[in-house]
Amino acid sequence: MNVQRQLKVLDLHPEIEDVTEEVCAGLKKRHKSLSPKYFYDEQGSQLFEAITQLDEYYPTRTELGLFDAHLSEIADLIGEGVCVIEYGSGSSLKIRKLLKALSPLAYVPVDISRDYLLNNAMALAQDFPRLTVLPVCADFSQPIALPEEVDGMSPIAFFPGSSIGNFEPAQAKQFLLRVAKTLGCGGHLLIGVDCKKDRGVLERAYNDAAGVTAAFNLNALSHLNRLLGTKFQLDAFAHEAHYNEDAGCIQMFLRSTMQQQVSVGGSVFTFDDGERLHTENSYKYSPDEFVRLAEDSAFRCEHYWQDADEYFALYLLKAL
Ligand code: AVI
Repeated sequence: MNVQRQLKVLDLHPEIEDVTEEVCAGLKKRHKSLSPKYFYDEQGSQLFEAITQLDEYYPTRTELGLFDAHLSEIADLIGEGVCVIEYGSGSSLKIRKLLKALSPLAYVPVDISRDYLLNNAMALAQDFPRLTVLPVCADFSQPIALPEEVDGMSPIAFFPGSSIGNFEPAQAKQFLLRVAKTLGCGGHLLIGVDCKKDRGVLERAYNDAAGVTAAFNLNALSHLNRLLGTKFQLDAFAHEAHYNEDAGCIQMFLRSTMQQQVSVGGSVFTFDDGERLHTENSYKYSPDEFVRLAEDSAFRCEHYWQDADEYFALYLLKAL
């Protein structure tokens, strides 16, 4: 059977002109910045998958350990007749565990990387033949229209991997408010969040010895080169990642290793030697901080689970 033909994709992917405008706005700032969403073309999604396998990158295996220990309890708390909405169709291992535990009626993966989204969705449709799979290609930092096929099902949103940490706290609140609205009163959100911890553990996770995180960071520039035809020179930028304790986040940058100019959409941008392009913040939340954020964002925390080292937490939230 040809599974590809069964999948109807809702394509809400942004237009190229919007991308150019957004990239230029970031490069015009006094402290140049680029949205972390540009990490994730197909190559970037594969590099991220490789990061999740690294010894230094503890979040993925710790979260998977929490799933193994607590998914059956989570399934009991959630109940039946559900539709799973996955924001960022990432590690297929996590979603597979969740789908097996919940046996939902439908699965709606939402991702900006169209090819990656479709490949994952097709593989899952093949392995879960009774599951209705409804991929939505969208930037989930914007409101998302869910496919009408899920009307009437009990929604559970799934946002694993501490991706919430890549939003600024104010954006995280806006995101949670949007999810609460999408779910409606009584809908659930199962969310994985990285905790505050020792600086050494954190900085090793974002400066791995094999240089996979560096390649992932630089891929944001390759992605723009492919997408917009820009000519960022990858060997003229170097990866940097530090923990900013005051802000409570890992900050990633690409440091220009020489004076250079890059043209984007007809505008020319100068990088000084040593000038940094900010590419990502990864916020870490103590359980108290995260529960407060959830409660300020139209959710109530039903339960949370942490590993023995308290490196990572899994929260089950209910929309009010
Ligand atoms: C996707 N996100 C939660 C990752 C993180 O840890 O903030 C992205 C990442 N950046 C570098 N390594 C991993």
